[in-house]
Amino acid sequence: MTASTTVAITDSDLNSREDEQILRAAGLRTVRLQARTEEQVIAGLSAVPAEALIVQWAPITAAVLDAVPRCRFICRLGIGYDMIHVSAATERGVAVANVPDYCVDEVVAHTLAMTLWLLRGLGSLDAAVREGQWSAGTAYPRAASPADTVLGLVGLGRIGGKVAAQAHALGFDVVGNDPYAAPGGAARLTSLDDLLRSSDVVSLHAPLTPQTRHLIRADTLALMRRGALLVNTCRGGLIDEAALAAAIADGAIGGAALDVFETEPLPGDSPLRSLPNVLLSPHAAWYSPASLARLPRQAAQQVVDFLTGRPVPAILNPEYAEHVAARPSPV
Ligand code: OXD
Repeated sequence: MTASTTVAITDSDLNSREDEQILRAAGLRTVRLQARTEEQVIAGLSAVPAEALIVQWAPITAAVLDAVPRCRFICRLGIGYDMIHVSAATERGVAVANVPDYCVDEVVAHTLAMTLWLLRGLGSLDAAVREGQWSAGTAYPRAASPADTVLGLVGLGRIGGKVAAQAHALGFDVVGNDPYAAPGGAARLTSLDDLLRSSDVVSLHAPLTPQTRHLIRADTLALMRRGALLVNTCRGGLIDEAALAAAIADGAIGGAALDVFETEPLPGDSPLRSLPNVLLSPHAAWYSPASLARLPRQAAQQVVDFLTGRPVPAILNPEYAEHVAARPSPV
């Protein structure tokens, strides 16, 4: 690392400059962009000798990587890293890390709040009281208890695993599907099809990849129990929203609680906005004042650690190291 080692922040909507303060305090130069497309990132970085990037939503494609030949490290400002072409980075000897644990408790709490809102019919009960009704079983007759509910978790990583443990403690019968999970946790492992067939509530906790895109679509929705409920706090791309809206409209799916969407912000004409028993939040599951403070701080610290040769346990592609020797030397 030299006095002119540069770190570029491609984009951030966090309204915090703590990342830059930490980088500068470590003797690094910083460049901040608000790039959201491949073209904007390439245009913004082509004259910048960035050795590391901090990325929130900007797409980091093979073309972007080729436009920043000095870059050695990319840190995602968040947990999901679907906007970064990790194998292209690996081939170029570039390490990629995320910030894996800045908001686990927040997302777990948001997921359980959404699940219980759906299960207890709180939206219908609230609307009924406001309309002058006062009856326990009329507005949402199917309000259930956790003990009578099978909760199916797709993905049992840091967040899904903790949802499983807390939901189990609340009395839910928890089943889970995750190709990487070992048996013995709070969720009984089962196949995805069996999970969809047997769950009263399905909650998604998987990364967005080509394999998980539209995991929930017309044919998988058709496997779910009539009236089953769906919760999504991971990535909107896991759900084909048009198919979900149609399934809710015809009663096949009983409701959904969604924090993430295929397009964000959720378009004004989305049918999800006007369907009954649908709870919407604006990609906010991660948020608390404490997690907002942690995220830029941890991302910047990981950049400093990497550039000063300290270990970064959150590196997602440790095999990048095999390709470092083949990197072209920067001009
Ligand atoms: C994240 C997110 O990836 O908030 O951390 O979506």
